[in-house]
Amino acid sequence: MIKWTMINMNLLLMFLMIMNNLIFKNNNNNNYNNITTYNRNMELYSIQSPFMKNMNIIKRRYHTSLNNNLIIVQKNNNEDNLKLNNLEINNFHKWLVGFTDGDGSFYMKGTERDLKFFYGFHLHKDDISCLEHIKNNLKLPNNINIRETSVQLTVTKKQWMNDNLLPIFDKYPCMTIKYYSYMKWKEGLMKSLNKVSSNKELMEYKTLINNYEIIKDMKIPYNHMNDHWILGFLEAEGSLTIESKRNSCKLFISQHEKSKKTLEVIKDYILNNWKPIDNTPMFIKNYLLNNWNDMIYLSKTNKCNVINLTTANMDFLYYVIIPKFNNMNWYSIKYNSFMNWQSIINIYMKGLHKINNNNIKEYIEYTKNLNKKGINKIDYNIELYNNIINNNKPLYNKNYPYRTNSIIHSKKSITGVGVFVYDLNNTLIMTFTSHVTAGAHFNCSKHEIAKYIKNGNVFMNKYILKNILLD
Ligand SMILES: *[C@@H]1O[C@H](CO)[C@@H](O)[C@H](O)[C@H]1NC(C)=O
Ligand SMILES: *[C@@H]1O[C@H](CO)[C@@H](O)[C@H](O)[C@H]1NC(C)=O
Ligand SMILES: *[C@@H]1O[C@H](CO)[C@@H](O)[C@H](O)[C@H]1NC(C)=O
Ligand SMILES: *[C@@H]1O[C@H](CO)[C@@H](O)[C@H](O)[C@H]1NC(C)=O
Repeated sequence: MIKWTMINMNLLLMFLMIMNNLIFKNNNNNNYNNITTYNRNMELYSIQSPFMKNMNIIKRRYHTSLNNNLIIVQKNNNEDNLKLNNLEINNFHKWLVGFTDGDGSFYMKGTERDLKFFYGFHLHKDDISCLEHIKNNLKLPNNINIRETSVQLTVTKKQWMNDNLLPIFDKYPCMTIKYYSYMKWKEGLMKSLNKVSSNKELMEYKTLINNYEIIKDMKIPYNHMNDHWILGFLEAEGSLTIESKRNSCKLFISQHEKSKKTLEVIKDYILNNWKPIDNTPMFIKNYLLNNWNDMIYLSKTNKCNVINLTTANMDFLYYVIIPKFNNMNWYSIKYNSFMNWQSIINIYMKGLHKINNNNIKEYIEYTKNLNKKGINKIDYNIELYNNIINNNKPLYNKNYPYRTNSIIHSKKSITGVGVFVYDLNNTLIMTFTSHVTAGAHFNCSKHEIAKYIKNGNVFMNKYILKNILLD
């Protein structure tokens, strides 16, 4: 009881501080520090953080919204709130399949005399909360095995797996080559339960299952691709990076070449089903839609037979990817990296990294350890982040793409190297980092571009070229 009160006090204090900030800053017309707390509308911002301190008492949900508003959502973590409703359960199952496709396994162990079927996960110790979520949501009968650096959750009870796992994995199938493994595992499990096969016969299944051998004439049902599967798979296999030298961020998934098809399906699914959120500024929206198919791409296979699916465009990350992932439940420690990663993207998008401010430098430095685990793991420093967002006015114009803003604010634009292309109504329609890139686009020389910038004549019957941004 005492503990609960203290934590509430802390939260209250934090909110008072933020509210205070809001009041304090309110005399200024800029709405950039508008902080709104929501009690309802939970579905909108259904982020769940198992990693905040005091997780068994308070579930805090927060979301860095766009348009410069920071919205913080909190919810008491009482019993009712912890129970997932039907929709959440289905979404969790989809997530679980994606996470299993990445980090889980179906396998068999033992000899003819004692042959066992397994399903489970073996993760870094930092991910114990994730296994607890899986165990609790599935009401899994086995306990988590805690080792020195790792944690393991496996189930071997055949009847339980038959009753609880098969319905999930039949409804939401695996979409990597783990699908073959599951199908053989299921067949073996059912034969074993119904005692139609001897262990001797089942021993043959073991190799097929454990080696993910491809089964001819069996097609992986990729058409079941969905948002929650993607998040689960990403939590297991995805990487979030911040390149502070280039002020850019990236999300990528590396896979062995034999999972290439899965990456292609993810790519097509995202390009066909996800879109910029409604309040994406018009110019950015048009830019994204005009370049849509380049926003996410597959690399060539490297020497080690690895292939990447990457998305690295800041506007795409900010207006498409992040809002999507903010609306889903995360269950692994990667949520922590994701929060830091999206905070840095928010800082970059506002141009705050161009401001000489120690808090910002400190935060960017801090996130260098974004993906570290164990003792070097970093937490999500919401206080530092709030401080930055609430006390610094955005430098970048939110109506322009990230790259346009960085050209405007780079040394290059001061020396007049950037090219801004307007239509005859003075609407900005394109930007280039140099005369050369503009020339390449318009099939003319850099001198031609320079000439039109200088004389201000109408270029190609429809454009005006400038070396500065008009207001
Ligand atoms: C802050 O944003 C909320 C929601 O968009 C709005 O209702 C409220 O009036 C805004 N407050 C201020 C001070 O601008
Ligand atoms: C995948 O991307 C990472 C990060 O950009 C890079 O280090 C790696 O070499 C890439 N691998 C391939 C196969 O392109
Ligand atoms: C410029 O504006 C006029 C009137 O608003 C419109 O009819 C015309 O289509 C616009 N031209 C361009 C190139 O957008
Ligand atoms: C430049 O030339 C290429 C091929 O030669 C063509 O596809 C492209 O449309 C041209 N661009 C412009 C702006 O005329």
